[in-house]
Amino acid sequence: MHESPPSPRRTSRDTAEAVREFYEDHPYPPPVDTLDDYRKHWLDRDRRRADYHLRWPSDSFRENASILVAGCGTSQAAKYAVRWPEAEILGIDVSAKSIEHTEALKRKYSLDNLALHQLAVERVGDLNRRFDHIVCTGVLHHLSDPDAGLRALRETLAPSGAIDLMVYAPYGRTGVYLLQEYCRRLGIGSSAADIRNLAASLQALPPDHPIMPLLRNSPDFQTEAGLADALLHPQDRSYSVPELFELLADCGLSFSRWARQAPYLPHCGAILNSPHQSLLSRLPAQEQYAALELFRGSMLRHSAILHRNDAPRESRPIRFEGDEWLDYVPIRLPGTICVEERLPPSAAGVLINRTHTYTDIYLPIDTEQKQLFDAIDGQRSIREIAADIEAKHLARTLFERLWWYDQVVFDASPRDDTAAR
Ligand SMILES: C[S@@+](CC[C@H](N)C(=O)[O-])C[C@H]1O[C@@H](n2cnc3c(N)ncnc32)[C@H](O)[C@@H]1O
Repeated sequence: MHESPPSPRRTSRDTAEAVREFYEDHPYPPPVDTLDDYRKHWLDRDRRRADYHLRWPSDSFRENASILVAGCGTSQAAKYAVRWPEAEILGIDVSAKSIEHTEALKRKYSLDNLALHQLAVERVGDLNRRFDHIVCTGVLHHLSDPDAGLRALRETLAPSGAIDLMVYAPYGRTGVYLLQEYCRRLGIGSSAADIRNLAASLQALPPDHPIMPLLRNSPDFQTEAGLADALLHPQDRSYSVPELFELLADCGLSFSRWARQAPYLPHCGAILNSPHQSLLSRLPAQEQYAALELFRGSMLRHSAILHRNDAPRESRPIRFEGDEWLDYVPIRLPGTICVEERLPPSAAGVLINRTHTYTDIYLPIDTEQKQLFDAIDGQRSIREIAADIEAKHLARTLFERLWWYDQVVFDASPRDDTAAR
């Protein structure tokens, strides 16, 4: 794990204050004044259903959850309020500037379902409330005591609630940590002039510096605000897969899935055809994820969906043993496309999820599989879609792969609840 070097005289209160001040000066993400495209994007009900069933596959779809956006920054809470107009959203953040930017969006879009508080994640218990859904992305790794922050969130999570957590991952950020240390040694501050000079100096980096892929490809590094957030942050730590699982166990949370799981699975991408495949597939799931993080080497962050470790058992995980899977209703995930040009031999299409950054993660399908894939309409179960297919295992193999490759999520809620579809 990377951890900001401890300063002999800095207490956790100093760190929290330094982080707050940093975000007063450099609100993040860079503020936006329109959510028009975002709103349009989320008008699609199937997009919202897919988003819901990613977290709650076996619960009936509903849109009126209570959602806490913890460390909401400049726009994330307003986006959730736009995305889920029937839900009740609360955004909290220590930075008054970030809350002000969100307030402006709330006024502009008349977001009556959005409340905002300047409040630290660690103090969320003061609200005396429970939430169905907690979103905490890009925040926990900036706290002086992330465990305390995550425990506080866990205590406000409803028994069947879900947390979306995103924390930095260490190996892909190696170049970032080199340059953080470089900036510390030079005593570079975060004034506008310092950031401008830093951006200019980065132009002189050697082309094989480990940060170069990020400077070239990551939109975060194209803005001065993004550079400051990555390179001049007063508090920044990261979690490898095993460290993340340790954190979750310490905080009474259980891992449900990765927001995008294919990069962590040994049965997706180029590794599938490597001589290590059989060794990898024998490992328990968490060991596979840890190995894949090392193998891929460039993961920048981990985005996981979590539940309480004492969540009621009725929430069943997606499984392809037994016959239950036949009643799952597949819903396409946003960002997925079927490419039909320049295909590998015998493929009728290649399925891609454009939110994946690894180019080896694609799924070729043949004509029969494509018929099944094209029949996905978000309404029919696999049993209905595959009614004409003699061999059940064909459908099972395909739908399990679609799931691994982040092409679909499943609505596995009780079938009689058709009103929710
Ligand atoms: C990198 S930004 C992420 C913003 C937002 N979650 C997103 O993904 O767009 C981190 C945010 O966390 C806030 N923050 C940092 N420490 C916090 C704390 N202890 N409690 C609440 N918010 C905090 C910062 O003010 C900042 O707005």
